[in-house]
Amino acid sequence: MDIKAVIKNALTKKSPDELIATSKKTELKKTLNVFDLIVIGIGAVVGTGIFTIIGTAIQGGPEGVGAGPAVIISMVLAAVACVFSALCYSEIAAMIPVAGSAYTYTYATMGEFMAWMVGWILMLEYAIGNITVASAWTGYLTQFLKGFKHILPSFVVNFPMWLRNDYRYMYSYCDKYGFDVHDKMPFIFGHIPFAVNLPAILIVLVLTMLLIKGVKESTRVASVMVGVNMFMILSFICVGAFYVKPENWTPFAPNGFEGIFMGAFLIFFAYIGFDAISTTAEETENPQRDLPIAILGTLVLCTVLYVCVALVLTGTVPLNQIDIQAPIAHAMRVIGMDWFAGLISIGALCALTSVLLIYQLGTTRILYAMSRDRFLPKSLRLIHKKYRTPHVLTWISGIVVIVCSLFMDLNISAELCNFGTFTSFIIICIAVLILRKTDPNRERPFKVPFCPIFPILGIVTCGGLMVYSMKSLRTSSTYFPLWLLIGFMIYAIYGYAQKRLEEQIKTKKQPRKIRSKV
Ligand code: ALA
Repeated sequence: MDIKAVIKNALTKKSPDELIATSKKTELKKTLNVFDLIVIGIGAVVGTGIFTIIGTAIQGGPEGVGAGPAVIISMVLAAVACVFSALCYSEIAAMIPVAGSAYTYTYATMGEFMAWMVGWILMLEYAIGNITVASAWTGYLTQFLKGFKHILPSFVVNFPMWLRNDYRYMYSYCDKYGFDVHDKMPFIFGHIPFAVNLPAILIVLVLTMLLIKGVKESTRVASVMVGVNMFMILSFICVGAFYVKPENWTPFAPNGFEGIFMGAFLIFFAYIGFDAISTTAEETENPQRDLPIAILGTLVLCTVLYVCVALVLTGTVPLNQIDIQAPIAHAMRVIGMDWFAGLISIGALCALTSVLLIYQLGTTRILYAMSRDRFLPKSLRLIHKKYRTPHVLTWISGIVVIVCSLFMDLNISAELCNFGTFTSFIIICIAVLILRKTDPNRERPFKVPFCPIFPILGIVTCGGLMVYSMKSLRTSSTYFPLWLLIGFMIYAIYGYAQKRLEEQIKTKKQPRKIRSKV
């Protein structure tokens, strides 16, 4: 084997012009405006992080100490890490407005092998991240049903645990509380444990069908849900502000910098998602103008909201009483507003549903771009005749989330999602630096200010948080390289050969074209 030729091939880049030309041939409908994009942004960002993970970021968990009220500093730190990458995303998204997000941008800057690996890593962020969100969805559904226990029939409120948790959780639950597992879940043929997270499966199925029906229809549903969840969060801030006791803010940082950094790592999950906006570039009416506005607007809006929520939460509830599972709803119970806690659960359900919807949209659009580049079989990118959406890929991404939610540990999926996102952010910052050198004259409707300082700061902040967290998260930091290895093998066995085949077909066609011109 000619190693030099293999390396040369693996480094083959797609020029931005080629990418734009391919995307112009797309069958995807161009229907999204800046409002739709901000809805997609907020819909993808506001979710499990602010409704659930904030509790652990404040209180601490089994693997790290909490930030206390200083979580607001953690939030700003996480936002700063995101803002540099957001600026870099904006520059490239406006310059190369095609589907595929970081995957496509890497193709233009670092070549085919890195592009495939980035697409593979993005699956951690979008598809694996969705497993965490689907599980949190079931948690809030349970909260919501309990809130209405006086109205709803008891079989709905208390539906069996084995129908809303995976078998691993059932084992650890029984272990913790000393129950016999055989009393708590059925065993097929007396040996195989059977427990499924049914609400998570159903919501993913419904959203899959909605996405097949159309992206515009899906964002319409998302905009209703974003509206409800924004209303709930703003109400929480406005009502809760009257019950803030400043003495709850002391001690401000009970675990010093360690707590603040660990909090920043955890709360980073709450910011993941703004990059989903750039995955829909091909379906955007005016991508050059709208993408940067939507990406930066989403990030600023969410940071302001999060800091306000954190101030009210830590100001109304004493530190040691902050709940880990549903901290915001619980805060309303602490001040004696049970009915409002029920309403907050509705807001949380809406937020989590829109995150699920948008992540699945992102997964299919990245896979679509990868399949168009022959890294995946052509049959996968079939477009639905009536709805003009990639229905095969949409089904595949839905089924992957459903199957993984049957056995995958949810904390591990969240951590893997973080690792995938950190890596893609770092790569985007590197891509900006490379494109500024290799393609300095291309029109840039939006430019990262203070380049190269800002992209370098993006690499340093994201890399720093990633390395810091790897110290303590042993399982996921073992799985992450394993995921990379599997990706490498798929490229070596399938993708590389397919790309060479594509090249051969192109070279055979070329002389004919030239002849016909002559
Ligand atoms: N940012 C998304 C959430 O918090 C992933 O659910």
